[in-house]
Amino acid sequence: MYVGWGDIMHLPDFLEAKTRDKRDLKRFDYKLDKSIKNKYKGKTYFIKTYGCQMNEHDSENIGALLESIGFKKVDDYLDADLVLLNTCSIRENAHNKAFGMLGRLKHFKAEKKDLIIGLCGCMAQEVSVVEEIMKDYKFVNFVLGTHNLHQLPEIIDKAIEENKQQIEVYSREGDLYEGLPVVRANSYKAYVNIIYGCDKFCTYCIVPYTRGRERSRKKEDILKEIDELIKDGYKEVTLLGQNVNAYGKDLYDDYNLGDLLEEIAKKDIPRIRFMTSHPWDFNDKMIEVIGKYPNIMPSIHLPVQSGSSKVLKLMGRRYTRESYLELFNKIKETVPGVAISTDIIVGFPGETEEDFEETMSLVEYCKYDNAFTFIFSERKGTPACKLKDNTTLKEKEERLYRLNEVVNKYFLENNKKLEGKVLKVLVEGISDKKNMYYGYSETNKLINFTSDSELNLGDIVDVKIESAKTWSLDGKAI
Ligand code: 5AD
Ligand code: SF4
Repeated sequence: MYVGWGDIMHLPDFLEAKTRDKRDLKRFDYKLDKSIKNKYKGKTYFIKTYGCQMNEHDSENIGALLESIGFKKVDDYLDADLVLLNTCSIRENAHNKAFGMLGRLKHFKAEKKDLIIGLCGCMAQEVSVVEEIMKDYKFVNFVLGTHNLHQLPEIIDKAIEENKQQIEVYSREGDLYEGLPVVRANSYKAYVNIIYGCDKFCTYCIVPYTRGRERSRKKEDILKEIDELIKDGYKEVTLLGQNVNAYGKDLYDDYNLGDLLEEIAKKDIPRIRFMTSHPWDFNDKMIEVIGKYPNIMPSIHLPVQSGSSKVLKLMGRRYTRESYLELFNKIKETVPGVAISTDIIVGFPGETEEDFEETMSLVEYCKYDNAFTFIFSERKGTPACKLKDNTTLKEKEERLYRLNEVVNKYFLENNKKLEGKVLKVLVEGISDKKNMYYGYSETNKLINFTSDSELNLGDIVDVKIESAKTWSLDGKAI
């Protein structure tokens, strides 16, 4: 019997997930139940990760949790004894991909009867998904929610010992666990969570339901993790959160992302990144700090979603076209050489051709360095589902096409300006195809480059840019 949960299954519930309260969170240090340490030695695992960096980082914890009970990683699911899907709910196609994979796994399990299949991540928090799995996907051994990831070793053990489908999903966020084990995918760049959840409730977005209310990690815990990464030779940390700019609001009276960035910048770490920023929570102190310290990378992801104030209101974004542009200009003026990227949704319910034209003109003004563009995808349980939508899919696809033409034009135009310039690049690897090194510049541009001398991975080198493409640049180390 495990403490805090028994035979009763916990099912997700969006109404409960929506509840926000002022209750203090308990903070625990993670400890593995010793009785199952290495219990599954000799078994193998495969994790398929969908979605954002938050999920990628969760998978680094998941891998380490699995290894603590003896599983060893394999690179092909056909070689695995346990397959875990770490899922994303953000748009319908992420959802469909995970169900497609479950279909393949069903066939695989027909051949390999003792295969263990688990589903975790954002889709596990959706009532309809869990109901479907209980009804039509009985071969899935367990479903584990985003708030109780630390229970993974125990739930696997329970699923195997009892040979019965386990559903353990909490809708109200649980306590905050520090010290989860981690196997990092990269030896030079590391993700560090600083805040979990989101309280913004944009009307299209499922994240506040799947990831719970905003919960900041204590600054001491973050700084300690970064000190350890520095000791281990890491060159770059990316501070992660659904909205990093809300960092500290739930925990401190007078300590926010600006203060945290400043403390980290004073440490001996060459590169600091952070994502994602909500324009609403960006303050002057943050912009000043980002501009002041050379080891805070001049690269900011600032999702705009739409260029029409009317649509932004329908989306519940809490800013207008004008106030976004004011912030955009302030960042451009204060942070030398900053590259700004964005997310844009087209075809939101109520978006007219005129509204879309406003998005196009905003993009023409901002000339983003990178942009992720999407067609609105209806997510069950979010307020946008109730809005009237008169635009056809064909019209939306056409808007997306037009938008992509413009954003791509500016990617190339911005990259062209870098020809002949020397950029600092963190050497990450050698690309198979071209026998060139690759890495990212300070402004997060992908650089492929040659070098007369052999380079060490993890070094930061000067690269002279020779030619620009839309999504990458070619150059030579000097
Ligand atoms: N439909 C389409 N795009 C969405 N995003 C979030 N929710 C939806 C949705 N329902 C996009 C937003 C966000 C990015 C991570 O995904 O642009 O910034
Ligand atoms: Fe997808 Fe959002 Fe969940 Fe990340 S937090 S996995 S983007 S739904």
